[in-house]
Amino acid sequence: MIPEKVRNYIKNNFKEGKVACLTGAGISAESGIPTFRGKGGLWERYDPEVYANTSGLISTLRTHPQDLANFIVDFYSLLLKAHPNPAHRALAILEKENILSSTITQNIDGLHRQAGSQNVIELHGNAFRIRCTQCSNTVVFEKDKLREMLELFKINKDSYIKILKVLSRYFPRCATCGLRYRIDIVLFGEILPQDELSRAYKHLNNCDVLLLIGSSLLVYPAAGLPLYAKEKGAKIIEVNNEPSALSGLCDYIITGRASEVLPEILGVLGYA
Ligand code: APR
Repeated sequence: MIPEKVRNYIKNNFKEGKVACLTGAGISAESGIPTFRGKGGLWERYDPEVYANTSGLISTLRTHPQDLANFIVDFYSLLLKAHPNPAHRALAILEKENILSSTITQNIDGLHRQAGSQNVIELHGNAFRIRCTQCSNTVVFEKDKLREMLELFKINKDSYIKILKVLSRYFPRCATCGLRYRIDIVLFGEILPQDELSRAYKHLNNCDVLLLIGSSLLVYPAAGLPLYAKEKGAKIIEVNNEPSALSGLCDYIITGRASEVLPEILGVLGYA
């Protein structure tokens, strides 16, 4: 799977704390979470213009409440069933062995932390967390409460008022400022959490190698990070089962599924 030239590079250049990685939906595909683009992707079934930006979500709630309820039930049912796969676990081992300095992810599924990675930088937030829109207080959205909410969506999905009642029950007002909590994920057109973004840049300033895993690298500013790392002198290795928008930038390409390639990298380094 991994070409000899790349195996040799990995063996000789994956030094302590000098490797960073940027992951996308492809690393979680084998955990049962659909990617966004490509065959069977989420955006094939749900228009991101409607379901991935605030104005689209609000107008769908008003005009087609059952569509919004179906989307939320669909999306979260897959997230709740998902578990880390060998790719997530391999990255956690690389971090534990002090090879990987950080796992920068565009994913909101929380699977890196579930696999044991500690230094996870969530550029697009986390679907199991709610955040106050004003003072950014965050609270974990417990999975049991989420399951409860999905059940209520299923039985109330035809009524705008009833869905609003469900939302107000699970997205309370912030005790500090009184505004309502919302899911802590970055929708299209919203700014990324600046503290996470600056953490990512800090790690990229210091890395010799950036592993790009399972991302189409079409969405900025996340897709700008490999360009930044390259300018800072890092070597870029891509792990993807097909070319991404930035494959031309990469120094090495490993074509394959993340859940097979990442354990193989562990093997090359003698950790598996
Ligand atoms: N192993 C490795 N790569 C894979 C696998 C796999 N098993 N399955 C799919 N891929 C690759 C695809 O080839 C594609 O390049 O994963 C990538 C998934 O691309 P996208 O669906 O565009 O996901 P991502 O790059 O994470 O999207 C970035 O766009 O919609 C927004 O906010 C959303 O964070 C997301 C951002």
